Amino acid sequence: MSGITSLTDKDRIFTNLYGFQGADLKSSQARGDWDKTADLMKVGQDAIIDVVKASGLRGRGGAGFPTGMKWSFMPKEPTAGRPNFLVINADESEPGSCKDREILRHDPHKLVEGALIAGFAMRCRAAYIYVRGEFIVETEALRKAVAEAYDAGLLGKNAAGSGFDFDVFVHRGAGAYICGEETAMLESLEGKKGLPRLKPPFPAGAGLYGCPTTVNNVESIAVVPTILRRGAAWFASFGREKNEGTKLFQISGHVNCPCVVEEAMSIPFRELIDKHAGGIRGGWDNLLAVIPGGSSVPLVPAEQIMDAPMDFDGLKELGSGLGTAAVIVMDKSTDIVRAISRISYFYKHESCGQCTPCREGTGWMWRTMERLREGDAQVGDIDKLYDVTKQVEGHTICALGDAAAWPIQGLIRHYRPELERRIAERHGAEREAAE
Ligand code: NAI
Ligand code: SF4
Repeated sequence: MSGITSLTDKDRIFTNLYGFQGADLKSSQARGDWDKTADLMKVGQDAIIDVVKASGLRGRGGAGFPTGMKWSFMPKEPTAGRPNFLVINADESEPGSCKDREILRHDPHKLVEGALIAGFAMRCRAAYIYVRGEFIVETEALRKAVAEAYDAGLLGKNAAGSGFDFDVFVHRGAGAYICGEETAMLESLEGKKGLPRLKPPFPAGAGLYGCPTTVNNVESIAVVPTILRRGAAWFASFGREKNEGTKLFQISGHVNCPCVVEEAMSIPFRELIDKHAGGIRGGWDNLLAVIPGGSSVPLVPAEQIMDAPMDFDGLKELGSGLGTAAVIVMDKSTDIVRAISRISYFYKHESCGQCTPCREGTGWMWRTMERLREGDAQVGDIDKLYDVTKQVEGHTICALGDAAAWPIQGLIRHYRPELERRIAERHGAEREAAE
């Protein structure tokens, strides 16, 4: 069914992304939210999971794990002493990512309705929405939407007249990037320090308070009511096989009009930028490189990304990834070594320090990056740095270690001559000074 790679207005799920209309219940209902929700639920829990599977929806938080499959891991007969929980990850902190924020601010009822339907499908007792600490306005908007839903009988006992009892709790974090990692988030919700847990067990086996839990991103849950209303085939008609659906892209950096926009998966990079971001600052010849999925994924040089389909598989083929679809555009005025060094600093700063390769490695990698930025290094340091990234990658408790290693690997892969040029220039200058 897939194949459409460009959306028209009528295809958009998030019709109030820019806040031109109200975010309140009445305005949301006028846009179609909460329309006969109980009827959507009547088809039954397993049928809902089947629709989500058939839609091809893959997790929108960055990893792209198939959402319906994740839901199917949850026990079908939870007990009172060990209930199922849904945790919604609204701790959006990946540098470049700013899409969940728009949903929370301007379309929160899509998320609350999605929480009820997803919670019902997975037989959950309640949903916890964990919001990034810095999102004050967004938390208020979400809390207001949840309160409105309770007042209207859409949450709580017999939610939306479905016969299903369901609660939603909003929890604001305290501003730690690592609490966006799903198991650190569970620890934090339990009132503990946000330290990632070893996986397995995955949260579906042992999650919040040791109970079966599914952790899903805001966008993943907010699209569910529309998928059920318009059908799995409709959603799957966008993008291409294994990369279906619509997606919120967040375009920042050296474009003429930075924006957050909903588009079809697999839209070619150049079309995405021309159609929505007004092209590259200074024209297409001025494009240097792009980080296509938030700071965790490696950069892609201009010549490789132009015609690339913006989806999980297309960007993986280029040695990068779709991640959160936070597209960071860099033109030729960018000091690419400095940019990646700044990202290294971010991961060093945010490492929770629990495991040695990440705690020691992120600091070491950042310090080496800073020396390379100045050219104050030997050519052999480039290989040593690459080796260290390989020793960090895959050897840590959570994905932060990988996220710190990959951007540096991308830099070395694509811009080694630039690193060598800086070293040669510095050594040349030092020789001249000595003579
Ligand atoms: P992951 O690939 O380990 O897991 C993805 C999801 O699938 C998790 O919910 C996990 O529990 C589940 N899963 C994976 N294998 C499973 C199995 N065998 N059985 C049951 N469940 C399984 O990735 P992770 O660590 O959850 O996310 C990493 C990504 O998050 C990065 O690639 C990055 O793009 C993104 N990210 C997003 C941020 C944001 O602000 N949205 C912040 C930081 C990272
Ligand atoms: Fe903490 Fe880094 Fe280990 Fe993740 S990889 S648990 S952030 S030390």
